[in-house]
Amino acid sequence: MTRKLFVTTALPYANAPFHLGHIMEYIQADIWVRHQRMSGNEVHFVGADDAHGAPIMIAAEKAGITPQEFVAQIAAGRKQYLDGFHIQFDNWHSTDGEENHQLSQDIYRKLKSAGFITSKTIEQFFDPVKNMFLPDRYIKGECPKCGAKDQYGDSCEVCSAVYAPTDLKNPYSVLTGATPVMKSSEHFFFKLSDEKCVEFLRGWALQDNRLQSEVANKCKEWLEGEGGLGDWDISRDAPYFGIEIPDQPGKYFYVWLDAPVGYLASLKNYFGKTGRDFDAFMADPTTEQIHFIGKDITYFHTLFWPAMLKFSGYKTPDNVYAHGFVTVSGEKMSKSRGTGISPLRYLEIGMNPEWLRYYFAAKLNAKVEDLDMNPEDFVARVNADLIGKYINIASRAAGFIAKRFDGIVATDWATADDAYLNNLRNVAPEIQSLFEAREYGKALRLAMEQADLVNAYVDANKPWELAKKPENDARLQEVCSRLLEAFRILTIFLKPVLPQLATQVEAQLNIAPLQWADVATPLPHQHKINPYTHLMQRVDLKIFDDLFDAPAPTTTTAAATEAANDIEALAEEIKIDDFAKVDLRIAKIVNCEHVEGSDKLLRLTLDVGEGSTRNVFSGIKSAYQPEQLIGKFTVMVANLAPRKMKFGMSEGMVLAASAADEKANPGLYILEAWPGAQPGMRVR
Ligand code: MSP
Ligand code: ZN
Repeated sequence: MTRKLFVTTALPYANAPFHLGHIMEYIQADIWVRHQRMSGNEVHFVGADDAHGAPIMIAAEKAGITPQEFVAQIAAGRKQYLDGFHIQFDNWHSTDGEENHQLSQDIYRKLKSAGFITSKTIEQFFDPVKNMFLPDRYIKGECPKCGAKDQYGDSCEVCSAVYAPTDLKNPYSVLTGATPVMKSSEHFFFKLSDEKCVEFLRGWALQDNRLQSEVANKCKEWLEGEGGLGDWDISRDAPYFGIEIPDQPGKYFYVWLDAPVGYLASLKNYFGKTGRDFDAFMADPTTEQIHFIGKDITYFHTLFWPAMLKFSGYKTPDNVYAHGFVTVSGEKMSKSRGTGISPLRYLEIGMNPEWLRYYFAAKLNAKVEDLDMNPEDFVARVNADLIGKYINIASRAAGFIAKRFDGIVATDWATADDAYLNNLRNVAPEIQSLFEAREYGKALRLAMEQADLVNAYVDANKPWELAKKPENDARLQEVCSRLLEAFRILTIFLKPVLPQLATQVEAQLNIAPLQWADVATPLPHQHKINPYTHLMQRVDLKIFDDLFDAPAPTTTTAAATEAANDIEALAEEIKIDDFAKVDLRIAKIVNCEHVEGSDKLLRLTLDVGEGSTRNVFSGIKSAYQPEQLIGKFTVMVANLAPRKMKFGMSEGMVLAASAADEKANPGLYILEAWPGAQPGMRVR
């Protein structure tokens, strides 16, 4: 029976481009979706940007644009990543779309009339300058326990004490520096503590095969822990970028209320575009709703979300599958440690997206385990397994068929009883069910075991030896034809992971798009294939040098903290006219090189929009490699009198930040302009 599947991945915050963790999640889900399509199932695979919330509103304000514009800019960048890694969403939408406003409000109204919404007046910190309530992460102050400065409102990074924002001493708003005041306001709550809700969630979460066992256990803890579930605060006061609560002017849904509704909104938007009936699809009891998410957001997806859907009369999710986090060489991805990998850079430097798909798949299982990306391991799996075992079969067989036999496959399958071909056919259902169970690593291991057996057949029959004597032609054609058939079946096994490669193979073998069912249908006798072209290159370990972001010049976090506290006292007050005397301009660093004989200076060649360039010496050698700076846009003092130095004339100065005591805390940070700024623009 054909299954009807509605599949989603978590909706990424629209405040930054995708990182490797996002790409991993999409690849995991995309493999599953492709596997389902190859099984003949109907799948609708959708994503969207998570547009709302205070951080995005504040980031947009800083950038001087509306939140809508801000989110649109991020959204415009999504396609190159998704296409680049062969991630085939049917639709990509936004939680700020019309469908989401309407669906979120509808769900809220239904929850309200079912008696699941209450309201309560609560007191919170309020920034009197900005006129807004402050989310916890925008309040800092002194730790109530150890007195450390600049600690967040929930816990101290110095002594690890945990407390409420109201416990902070000398609290201040991160946004304005103002001292927050306590202010009360009415908030709306979803009654998760309602007995009916707890009972429903217990049944839902603990149902067989719904959640991974470790996730189900967590849910059990949450449901049965001390005090059980608390009611969930779903409202925020204006100003907020979000969806208005019906009949409550100035109140908005908290972003996590409307974010998962965005799944439905994206599907509805897609069905609208393709003329399908959204309501009928969601009302159909055979529709399966499946969410792929990361481990950090299970709480929202296994408690809030199913409860919201249940008590507003919508269909509840069938499965929520959580994955672990991507780490790089054993560490959390981090730009400053040089372990940040930009997925776009991966593509730009010419790395094959299917290497990464293969690598992630080889390391993925159905558990909530972190996944480490390690260059040596990556190279070994791609070169030794993917190329060495699989691609190798085609390169050894297809050339002979194409060149020597005019592309004609010839073997009498009916009597051919080579064990390896039967093995391949027999193992297919197991591999298929491993994909189904998201055990991709195991599926690929089985496929590679089969590839080993095929390669053993190659070594036993040595096509290159057969090719030396014309009297062996018939045998050569048969051996190579069988190898192509083996390669065809292996391609089916790998197709969910390597869709582009599979398409190339299909073109080369001159066959229709491969499905799981095609395992049983061998290449026809006398079938003609197309000329062989090489399918995939090996990866060179050296390319990883280009891939990793250059580490920031700080060495340890402790040192960074010290430097952060070592802040110079403020200079004497000036008038705006004083400031106007300093002519600051955007400068593009068109070249940068070491200065022979100087251990402090770099020589910068700057384009300040004057039609000619300027030469500037800057004491930043300790912090940057010349190649890190070339192409960057920075800020320079453009009307500083030229200064003759030992190494030549310096025609200005670039700006960099440092601690008060540069000797004790030597970090140097050159300014970088926001994208869009052009050389010569005045900074004021
Ligand atoms: N906007 C929310 C999700 C709303 S879903 C209705 C959010 N966004 S996010 O951009 O922070 O994360 C999106 C997804 O990426 C989440 O599933 C998250 O777990 C995942 N990952 C974020 N960092 C990750 C890694 N380092 N590794 C793997 N996945 C990671 O949360
Ligand atoms: Zn402390």
